[in-house]
Order: sequence, then C-alpha cells, then structure tokens
Amino acid sequence: MDVIALDDPTDAQLRQWHDVLAAVHAADPAAGPEPDPERPARRLLGAEPGARRRLWAAADGARLAAVAALRLPGEPGAGRPGEIDIQVRPGDRRRGLGGRLLAAAAGGLRADGRTSVIAQVLAGTPAVPFLESHGFECVLTLRGLLLRLDDVPPERVARLLAEAPAGYRLVRWRGVVPAEHAAAFARAKYAMADFAEYEGTPWDAHRVREMAEVVAKRGDDLYTVAALSGGAVAGFTEVVVPDGCTGRAAQYDTAVVPEHRGRRIGIWVKAAMLEWLAATRPGVREIETDNAGDNAHMLAVNEELGFRVERESMEYQAAVASLPASP
Ligand SMILES: CC(C)(COP(=O)(O)OP(=O)(O)OC[C@H]1O[C@@H](n2cnc3c(N)ncnc32)[C@H](O)[C@@H]1OP(=O)(O)O)[C@@H](O)C(=O)NCCC(=O)NCCS
Repeated sequence: MDVIALDDPTDAQLRQWHDVLAAVHAADPAAGPEPDPERPARRLLGAEPGARRRLWAAADGARLAAVAALRLPGEPGAGRPGEIDIQVRPGDRRRGLGGRLLAAAAGGLRADGRTSVIAQVLAGTPAVPFLESHGFECVLTLRGLLLRLDDVPPERVARLLAEAPAGYRLVRWRGVVPAEHAAAFARAKYAMADFAEYEGTPWDAHRVREMAEVVAKRGDDLYTVAALSGGAVAGFTEVVVPDGCTGRAAQYDTAVVPEHRGRRIGIWVKAAMLEWLAATRPGVREIETDNAGDNAHMLAVNEELGFRVERESMEYQAAVASLPASP
C-alpha cells in the first residue's frame, strides 16, 4: 500500500474517494448524512477563496483504502491551524494507514509553516483513541442538535415572534449581505469570536462577503435573519440549505452582540428564520446545529425552540512539532 499525494486527482480517483466516504458512512450511518458523489468532488476541487486544500490517499493500485484532506485556511504560517480529516475503509483499519496519512499531512503542515492542527470527530468513535495516540488533545466539546420542523407547533413560532423585544426590527437576506448592512453585520459576526477563539482571524466586511460567496459557489443557499437596533446589527442567525436539499438544512452562526444580550434576541431571530423557511423552503424538514458544550445560553435557546441532542463531537488539537515525521 502506497501513500500518494493527490495534487491533481483524476475522475477515477475522485470516484474512489467517494467510495471510501460511502464505506465509512455505511459502517456508521449515525455519523451524518450519506455522502453525495457530486459533493466531495466539487468540495475537493472547487477553489475555495481564503483556503487551500491538500489531499493524500493510501492506494492499493487503483483502489484507495484511505484518504486524508488537509484544509489550510488563510495565509501560510503560524496564524491559523490546519484542519485534518482522515477516513479509512472499515476493512482496512488498524493497519497503520491512518497514522501514515497523518504523517503525510504533517509534512504538508510543516511545508506551509503551520504550527498546529485541528480535527473534528464524533465522541465514542475510533477517531478519539487514534488522535489521542498521536498527541492530540480535546480543546472543545460540541453537541450536535437536530430540530425536526414537524415537531415545532406553529403557535410556538407565532408566540416567539409576537414577543419581539422593544426597539428592534428584523431584516433578512439571501446570499451575500446587502451593502447597507455589511459593516454592521461584520461587527456582529465579531461577537462570535468568544465562542471560536481558535479561528483567530477577525471578521470584516470582506470576510463576511467571501464566506457567503463560498456557500453560493458550492450551489448552497445562505439565509440570514438579523435584528437591528438603529443601524447596528444586534444579533443574527444564519441557515444554509444545501443544493438539491433532501430535507436537512444546517444552522451556521447565531450571535447576539454583548451589549444586546439578555433580551431574547437570539430566540427571536431564530423563530423568524423558522417562519421564513416554512414559507419559502417547505422542503426543509430538519435543521442541524453544533453548540459548544459549555455554551449554556445557546443550548437553552435551541432546546426551547425544540432542538434535541443527537450526538456529541469533539475538536482535537495538536502541535505540528509533536506529529510523526513523513517518511
Ligand atoms: C480514526 C481512523 C482514521 C483511524 O484509522 P486507522 O488506519 O485504523 O488508524 P491506525 O491503524 O493508524 O491506528 C493508529 C493507532 O491509533 C489507535 N487506534 C486506532 N483505532 C483504534 C480503535 N478502534 N480503538 C483503539 N485504538 C485505536 C491505536 O493506538 C492504533 O495503534 P495500534 O493499532 O498499534 O494499537 C479510522 O478509524 C476512521 O476512518 N474512522 C472514521 C472516520 C473518522 O472518524 N476520522 C477521524 C477524523 S481525523
């Protein structure tokens, strides 16, 4: 079995890549939605502004047994961690392939000047002992929550909307933020920073637009609802409906700016989002979200709306210096 870099993957290699993801999913369907053959190819090949990607695989002739994708956000250097995802076919595990791919990715991290790397994994899966055996430490626990829209009585949404906090008004947009709200929205995005210190890069109007463009390029739809106080964005919530949505949409960021907290703005914008999606995207049946395990406020808001905990995941981090060297 050889570890190869897939700097310019062929169509056959992309099909094999999907095959690996499908085999991993078949063994553990609870880990998430079934991989779509079009999406990995688009995600792997699509130039994502603001991040680069490097790929490796463990290959036995034309067959790929395991794959590794390294995402390198921002500029080369120590500013931000790289993000690693390794997937090994169930029948090929415990033969050191995961470790060999990690060593190859470590070479990629070093070549890019990165000093740390993160990985997101599900609690209770082999990924936990795998990462811990390679010096990774858990830095964040995330609860995966799911809201089934059929379980949300319309009167709950109507009541939450009727309880609008005084002095605020709602605005909403699809895709990129309208120019008149761009700077104010970026400031509100910055309020997310206390939940995501590892992100490291401040939000500005440029990064806000760039993020929306990334979503659009994938063919997905980004919906945003914001609460305004004068011209300022006091809080907002974002949901992404994937291209060819088969029922499940993804909650992106929700935040309330510190000086506007404690007025139920978070739940208000989320209720407005549910009403908007029900009217314009009736195909959306579920919304999934991740909350930091210690983010009691957001968990309370989500539980009041009707979200239920589905799974727990963890974010692991390691110093690149402690990773195995590539052969
Ligand atoms: C996690 C995963 C990548 C590990 O791949 P792998 O090829 O089996 O890993 P390796 O053979 O290199 O294992 C290296 C060490 O990790 C630890 N390890 C790996 N799987 C383990 C398990 N199921 N139980 C206990 N320890 C385990 C062991 O210390 C192992 O060394 P050993 O076999 O000599 O005891 C694989 O299980 C997988 O694809 N899981 C699903 C996808 C996923 O969660 N990816 C993680 C994202 S980074």
